[in-house]
Amino acid sequence: MNLVATIAVAFWAMLPAYVPNNAAVLAGGGRPIDAGHTWGGRRVLGDGKTWRGTAVGILAGVALAVALNAIRPAAVDALGVPLPEFPIAAMLALPAGGMLGDILASFLKRRTGRERGAAFPVVDQLDFAVLALALTALAAPAWFAATFTLGVLLVVLVLTPILHVVTNVAAYWLNLKSEPY
Ligand code: CTP
Ligand code: MG
Repeated sequence: MNLVATIAVAFWAMLPAYVPNNAAVLAGGGRPIDAGHTWGGRRVLGDGKTWRGTAVGILAGVALAVALNAIRPAAVDALGVPLPEFPIAAMLALPAGGMLGDILASFLKRRTGRERGAAFPVVDQLDFAVLALALTALAAPAWFAATFTLGVLLVVLVLTPILHVVTNVAAYWLNLKSEPY
């Protein structure tokens, strides 16, 4: 695959892991997952991780994977790129892993004394991608190995922080998010 095709495959394969975070920002609110519990004097996760945001985020990612599968034949024809079809295990693991990574990052932020909304460079930009990849590797190992070749993985590691910065700055400008990261 050439570079453009590799970027297209990386973006396509990771979309169901990217979108849940943005959907959670739009849908967030209500009961926090940690129910207000603290650990070592600090919140376990904080008010920024809610059941509603997490559930809507995962559902949005699953729905997107279903939609991508539906338009895949047309997209492959139009682009001439071998875009992967999502098996059910990947449809669930990519969004769930993405949300889990974000939640894990909040856990680490609270343990390191960072308040809700504080920036955690590198972790903020890659948490969801790393956990989405890890969970997908466990849930759909053969599909993972066929889709995430070394070249695709490298593109994911470079593309993810760029997309994260761009979408979060955009969400901040649109007053959808209170911090630009
Ligand atoms: N959100 C949510 N549930 C999630 C993730 C996000 O409800 N699992 C919503 C919350 O309203 C949150 C907003 O999306 O405030 C922004 O998400 P994020 O930046 O990840 O959370 P922060 O509020 O910055 O909190 P933290 O410092 O814990 O990351
Ligand atoms: Mg934040």
